Amino acid sequence: MSLQQTLILLKPDAVQRRLCGKILGRLEDRGLKIVALKMLKVTKELAAQHYAEHVKKPFYPQLEEFITSGPVVSLIVEGPGAVQVVRDMMGKTNCRESAPGTIRGDYGLSRQVNLIHGSDSPESAQKEIAIYFRPEEILSYDSTLAEWVC
Ligand code: PPS
Repeated sequence: MSLQQTLILLKPDAVQRRLCGKILGRLEDRGLKIVALKMLKVTKELAAQHYAEHVKKPFYPQLEEFITSGPVVSLIVEGPGAVQVVRDMMGKTNCRESAPGTIRGDYGLSRQVNLIHGSDSPESAQKEIAIYFRPEEILSYDSTLAEWVC
């Protein structure tokens, strides 16, 4: 399996509920390598760029209101098959339908307020990484544990 990078957002509810450390810990415990990370406030313009395919959907006003409601943590993680690994760790969109052991299944009960976003394909990951990070913000570094955890 080739090394992939994927874009993750810890949404405003994760920040407000002080769950960022726990979620980042789960990602790192799994063996994913953080190669970029920052905190920011998503503007309406940024939301429309990120969620371009959903802008016309009936739920978009709620999604926009939620994602712009407070700071998010944006990060890129890298690892073998990282896109699907992260999607599996997140659980289903609706937290109530997410299995225990997933991030949404362990920490949430809502469909809209669902803690975490992860790119849904390698193509989306490339697009979303370019939306949130400039190339010089993405770091390449040796990890002494890389051979153990990958
Ligand atoms: S779809 O229509 O099946 O493609 O949508 P889905 O993949 O389930 O969700 C896409 C993103 O929209 C968010 N979403 C919602 N937000 C607010 N209200 C409602 N009802 C709602 N339904 C879906 C969902 O959390 C997804 O956001 P991300 O950040 O990609 O997880």
